[in-house]
Amino acid sequence: MVEIGLIVCKNIDNGIGYQDDLLFRLKPDIEFFKKTTLDVENNNDMKNVVIMGYNTWKSIPNKFKPLTDRINVIITKRNYQHMMEENKTKYSNQLIISNNLLEIIDSLKLRLDVFRVFIIGGENIYKETLDNNLIDKLYITNVLYSLSNQFIDTYLTNINYDKYLLSWKSTIYKENGTIIPLNKKQPLEYYFSIFTRNNAH
Ligand SMILES: NC(=O)c1ccc[n+]([C@@H]2O[C@H](COP(=O)([O-])OP(=O)(O)OC[C@H]3O[C@@H](n4cnc5c(N)ncnc54)[C@H](OP(=O)(O)O)[C@@H]3O)[C@@H](O)[C@H]2O)c1
Repeated sequence: MVEIGLIVCKNIDNGIGYQDDLLFRLKPDIEFFKKTTLDVENNNDMKNVVIMGYNTWKSIPNKFKPLTDRINVIITKRNYQHMMEENKTKYSNQLIISNNLLEIIDSLKLRLDVFRVFIIGGENIYKETLDNNLIDKLYITNVLYSLSNQFIDTYLTNINYDKYLLSWKSTIYKENGTIIPLNKKQPLEYYFSIFTRNNAH
């Protein structure tokens, strides 16, 4: 069965974004995201999938789109045909556009060339997959920095951690990073955690 992971970087207020951008630019977090979403554990004939809402897609700089070596799925209610026309020459078959999150996840789970599926945001995409109990694994970068709610407009929905077991937690690191809404660079403390669905639930 294809595993469905959710990967997110949040601060201690559960904030994930502001004005269509992330809250933090932190190199180790980008590396963690890349390493996690690219890893196919030697199944080199398979690919992982990253599923995102249209705003998250828009927020990725053009030069990084689509995210390489992963099947990129954009969820939108927009006119599908129009979106495909707009994107197919640039992004060809590395891109799937869908207006039904749950249906596309079901169909991806049946594909033999898919290793893992990652839900990469934003707010509603996280919420809908968690509410529907679809998430097997949580990959969380926790940035130990509080921001006033005037600098957060997108949040990670409350997660019911009773459904999950902590499988790994890193130590707390400190690294220079940018607090994007404040346009300020400073040392930031952060740690990674991974939770796996508790099958007793
Ligand atoms: N910290 C992190 O790890 C992280 C990760 C990802 C994103 N973010 C941040 O989060 C913000 C973007 O998130 P967001 O919540 O505003 O937007 P989003 O989830 O990326 O995109 C929202 C759009 O996705 C489409 N959509 C969502 N649910 C849908 C559904 N069930 N069916 C069909 N279409 C659906 C709609 O697109 P249409 O309007 O086109 O119909 C909706 O307007 C940015 O600030 C970004 O930087 C942070």
